[in-house]
Amino acid sequence: MPATVEHPEYVLPNNAAESDRLDFQHILLTRTFEGLHRAPLDTSKPLRVLDIGCGTGNWAIDFAKQSPQSQVIAFDVQEKGDWATAPSNCTFKVADLETDETWSSLGDFDFIHGRFIVIGVRDWHALLKRCHAHLLPGGFVEVQEFCMPCKSLDSKDEETSKFIAWSNSMVSVGNQIKLKLQIMNDMPDLMKAAGIQGVDLKEFRMLTGPWMEDEEGKVLGRMGQQNLVQGMYGFGETLHTKILGWSGEKYQGWVDGIRKEMLEDGLRTWLPVKGMSKWTYEGREETYAPQYLPICLIRKS
Ligand SMILES: C[S@@+](CC[C@H](N)C(=O)[O-])C[C@H]1O[C@@H](n2cnc3c(N)ncnc32)[C@H](O)[C@@H]1O
Repeated sequence: MPATVEHPEYVLPNNAAESDRLDFQHILLTRTFEGLHRAPLDTSKPLRVLDIGCGTGNWAIDFAKQSPQSQVIAFDVQEKGDWATAPSNCTFKVADLETDETWSSLGDFDFIHGRFIVIGVRDWHALLKRCHAHLLPGGFVEVQEFCMPCKSLDSKDEETSKFIAWSNSMVSVGNQIKLKLQIMNDMPDLMKAAGIQGVDLKEFRMLTGPWMEDEEGKVLGRMGQQNLVQGMYGFGETLHTKILGWSGEKYQGWVDGIRKEMLEDGLRTWLPVKGMSKWTYEGREETYAPQYLPICLIRKS
């Protein structure tokens, strides 16, 4: 059945190649964020932690290993990866983040984390309210998210690059089924509506090619490029074939050309990631260094 607003489906693949890509992306993101989270958690205490849309579960497993006294619960709408290898303080379940049934059985948490789940969320207002409602006093919610379309240092690429055209297409087809791949632009307003004040949005870059001068930038750029080149067919296949009605061959041909451009044309491009670099809580201001990637934090009083 084609995906529609009334009958949404997750539009990325659930197979071994996608699980491998998520594992690789976890390394890329952890390295980019310089750790598993930016929220100022006191991990010397036992924490109740929730990871929503956990994918293969690497984030949850790593958190549980780093904080063995904490209890980590992670869920995803599809089972994938090596959930069975988790340590005993980390449990996984299949659940939908957009249903009351899921949230009613979870309990409350010191930390709720969601990373790169924008492709699966239709109602962010409801999600932020649910997260806030399930925080223990002093708890945090942290969302780490990308914001399409992709950008280039060379302004002509906005008109001519196939890669940027692909990301524009992802945004416009996503909008047709309520997947808002630019939602981070609206996040300050959404957070204010959920009761959070003093939100400051900042844009960072997830590099999609090794064009930076410095060694770390080159490595992260190469990793970001590999991640996108590898995942690009799966990211847009459902959107372009089921929503736009393209044939699989047409989409594959387009993607082949884009991959070639990304690997051979020396594009100086990136996937923007937007997040909160600063938020105000009880008159106290917390600021995060600009090199840190997308963060949106809520703290509950
Ligand atoms: C791009 S992956 C990111 C996975 C993980 N957060 C990470 O950073 O590695 C997005 C995940 O969200 C999950 N997802 C999508 N819609 C969901 C929903 N309604 N409820 C729960 N999980 C969902 C997908 O199955 C997928 O594993």
